[in-house]
Order: sequence, then structure tokens, then C-alpha cells
Amino acid sequence: MASALIFYTLASIALGYLAYRAVIRLQLSRAKHPSLRGHSNWARRVARLIPFFSYDQARFFACDGAPLDRAQQRRNALRELQTRTEQQCPATLAHCRAIQNSVSDVQFTSRYRVPFPFSEQLPECFKLGSMADETRGSQVKDLDGNWRYDLSGSYGVNVFGYDFYKQCMDEGIEKTRGLGPVLGAYHPLIVENVEAIRQISGLNEVSFHMSGTEAVMQAVRLARYHTGKTHLVRFCGAYHGWWDGVQPGIGNTRKARDVYTLADQSEQTLHILRTRKDIACVLINPLQAFHPNSDAPSDTALVASDRSNGFDKTGYTAWLRQVREVCSQRGIVLIFDEVFTGFRLAYRGAQEFYGIQADLVTYGKTLGGGLPIGVLAGSHRLMKRFKDDQPVNVSFARGTFNSHPYVMGAMNVFLNRIRQPDVQQQYRESESLWNSRVAAFNQRLQDEALPLRITNIHSILSVLYTRPSRYNWMFQFYLRQAGLELGWTGTGRLIMSYSFTDAEFNEVIERFVTAAHQMDAGGWWWQGPELTNKAIKRQFLVDMLSARFPFLKSWLHGQLFNQNLKKVAEL
Ligand SMILES: Cc1ncc(COP(=O)(O)O)c(C=O)c1O
Repeated sequence: MASALIFYTLASIALGYLAYRAVIRLQLSRAKHPSLRGHSNWARRVARLIPFFSYDQARFFACDGAPLDRAQQRRNALRELQTRTEQQCPATLAHCRAIQNSVSDVQFTSRYRVPFPFSEQLPECFKLGSMADETRGSQVKDLDGNWRYDLSGSYGVNVFGYDFYKQCMDEGIEKTRGLGPVLGAYHPLIVENVEAIRQISGLNEVSFHMSGTEAVMQAVRLARYHTGKTHLVRFCGAYHGWWDGVQPGIGNTRKARDVYTLADQSEQTLHILRTRKDIACVLINPLQAFHPNSDAPSDTALVASDRSNGFDKTGYTAWLRQVREVCSQRGIVLIFDEVFTGFRLAYRGAQEFYGIQADLVTYGKTLGGGLPIGVLAGSHRLMKRFKDDQPVNVSFARGTFNSHPYVMGAMNVFLNRIRQPDVQQQYRESESLWNSRVAAFNQRLQDEALPLRITNIHSILSVLYTRPSRYNWMFQFYLRQAGLELGWTGTGRLIMSYSFTDAEFNEVIERFVTAAHQMDAGGWWWQGPELTNKAIKRQFLVDMLSARFPFLKSWLHGQLFNQNLKKVAEL
């Protein structure tokens, strides 16, 4: 009797414990974003299953079910655009071709400039990257003397215009030339730099690194070291550099077992932060406010016209406040990754823009005054790399080129320059300036009845497409032709610099509108009555499944509800 009682008691405890574990696990699952992006392991598995397929000539021009004459119009338009591009940039294209197969970055970007089924048929001149040999204010010149307004923003480095950075680099090198490449011993300018970064970050200790990725690595390592906890929380879709530890899903074959990817702006996520005991830090890229829970918009993913982003400053600020509060309550280190937003959204970056003080802040990109940089700022307590009472328990971080004299020099000029009244005034006015410029841009697009809309967070713009189409990715090539330089991700992100005058920005709008009319005249935005975003995505899925399971092809094509697309699929 007694042993039965013990047995039932133990069994009940075990069952209770298992139920408790299941609830905890379930809560974690609920805090993940329901999309594949929110489930890193599944995303990686599914990515391996997606087969490559390529549209042939016929489908390249009519995969949306466009009639024959429209397909011919597109074929002619592409040929014309190709001829003009080849005539306009022979030297640039030749130089790009020379590195095409020998520089890995170029191979990759060439492949991912447009949705993959179109990539093989796309003429080579559109796949190649670009080369430039001169800049002037807001413009960049290719090797054939073509000046274009630069909307690529040099990955976000270019906040103030290229002349500004040339000045930082020249004066910075001038200031440090005497010391040259000495490492280990610091150039005395470091004293001023550290003081300025301390003031700007609101934190009292600084470490220097070579890239934003490295600064993030160090922030996360220190958070784990000081809290003794294992897990980093990042938000779905957020980019924090290419390090394994912050990229647990697609893009990285190695599993990151100590990362939780949770949904942005979610009550369930707050619950996880309030209840779990293994969370060392929360890593926030404040730019994510522009497209919460989604990757940075890129034209390679422009399968249909359902790209959406937009910015709600009040809502995002309220969310950040909640995260700040729960992190403070739970001893979780709040890290702002300001590699992109730092020195752009405001003088004190996103911390000032949203009115939140983080525990650790990473900077990079523009802070180097045009030279490579990563910086971490934090409190003495969190930045400390050793424990007073455990001499061998250290958190080691070094780097040969950290604090390079030339970088310190250019950074010094940058930090002094942005303190000046003219730049401070630019900072004060920039948010409303960009909002009003984007409003004028949209008005113009509306007046021209173009199927385009621009959204923005401050000086970072994105193009949205308002009419269902399978060919929006073509627009990047028309824009380039019209004299607007884009990054390799195309129209997803236009990174503007403060150097644009009103007149220059109006010129950008004019060129954009010209490019859009040319695109329209090429027939790319034709829309048949049955062409909806849903139908396009359904057709894409059918194409993909047909490539994966060829024996199911005819049955799958039968599932298309759009008669035109059915005909195309049978081509
Ligand atoms: C928010 C953020 N963090 C980290 C990085 C990585 O910086 P880097 O490319 O200098 O390694 C980037 C780069 O784009 C970034 O935008």
C-alpha cells in the first residue's frame, strides 16, 4: 500500500514536471514568428529542399500569362536597354567581367540580383556589378564617365556625402601620418575619440574593432560572460552581421544552439523575457522598425508586388520601452546594434531617436570617417574582461588592427565635424526633411499614375509596387540607366545621404519618374485581369514543386486557377 502510494506520488511529480516543461516549450514556440523566418531550423531545412529552376526564353517574357504581343514588347525593351547599357558603360562592364569569376562577393551578388528563375536568361550586362573611380557630393562616376546620383549609400556608411568622408580621410591621415602603421601603442587622438563616444553613447567604456560584425560578437560575448547565461535573443528578420552566432537560419549552415529568434513587437516575446532564466541579452537592430519580422527588402525576393514596409515611430518606441523595462527587471543586457542607425537617425543615433538608453551599443560604418570600423560602448561593469576574484576567468578579445592610427585619425575628424553647429542643425531637421521629401516624391508618383510608392524611415527609403507584377525587379536596371546608382539589393533600400540638396533630390525624383515611364513603356507592368499577387505566388509555388517533383507536373498545373497562367505553365 505504502509502496503504491510512493509510486503514484513519484509518477504524479514526474508527470507534473513533464507538463510544466511542455508548457514552457510551448510558450517559447508561441513567441516565435509564425513565418519560416521565425523558425531557424525549419528555414534551413526547407531552404535545402527548394530546387533551382530557370525560365526559358518564352517564359522569361511571359511567365505572368501576358499575350504574345506584350511578350514581344518586353523582348524588344530588354534588347534596347541592353544595347544602351553596353554602349554607355563598355569599360565598366569589361572591368566587372574581369573579376566576375574570381571575386566571391561578385559571384554571389550577380546571382542574387533578381529572382532566381530569371537569372540565367538575364543578359550578362545586368548581372555584373558596377565599378566607380570618382565621387562628388551625392554622385558617383563609373569608369566610362557616367555620373549617377548615389542611392546605394555605401552600405549605409555615407551619411553626409562623399566629400565629407574624403575630408575625414585626408585630414585624419594627415594627423596620424607621423606614426604610420604602428599598432599596440595608441595614437594620442584616441583620447578625444573615446571621450566623444562616451558622451554620445551615454556609456563610459569603449572598445575598438575592425567591423560591425566584430563589435556585435564582442557585445554578445560580454553579455554572456557577465550574466553567466547562455542565450541571446534576436528578432525575426534582423541583421547583425554575418557571424554564425547571430545568423541562425538561412545563410549559415552551422546551427546556433544558443540563440532564440523571437517575434518583434509581440506580447509572447515579452512573456519569454519575463519568465526564462537562460537569457543573457536582447539584441536589437533599430532599423528593423521599418520592416518588423521581415528581412531587409531586396529585389531578389520581388516575386510579386506584396513587399510591404512602413514605419510607426510611436508604436516602435512603445515596444522598445517595454523591452527596456523587462530587461532591467530581469538582469538581461539590452544591446542596441547601431552599426547602421548610429550617427544617422540622430546625433546620438537610435538611442536619441527613440529616447531609450541601452546597456551596450555597437557602432560601425560611418563612425570610421570612411575607414573600416566597429566600436562597442558599455558600462565599466559590462565591458570588463576579467573578474577581480578569479584571475584566470577572462573574456578574451583582441584584434591586430583595432585602433589603427589612420582610423583613429579619420574618426577624430568625423567626431569633431559632427559636433559643429551646421551638422547639429542638419541632425535636428533631418527627420522632418526626409519625411516631407518622401511625401513630395509620393505625390509626384501619384500625379503620374505610376504603380509605385515610397516608404521611409528617416533617410532610408524603400520602393513599394502597387500593381501585381512578376517583373518589378526589372526596374532597378531602368533606374541605373536613368542615372541612379543602387546597391546590389536593388530598390528595396535606397540609402540617402544628408548631402542631397532639395534641387538634387528633385532631380532624383525626375529620373525615377522617367525610369518608371520607360519601364511601363517596355510592357513590364502589364496586368491581365486574373493577375493578382496571390495568383503569382501560387504559380511560383507550382513552378517550384514541378521542378522538385517532375512527375507531379501536370497535376500541379491543373491546380492553377488562373487560365492564362495555366497556358504559360504548359509552355
Ligand atoms: C545592424 C548591423 N549590424 C552589424 C552589421 C555588420 O557590420 P559589418 O558589415 O561592418 O561587419 C551591419 C552591416 O550591415 C548592420 O547593418
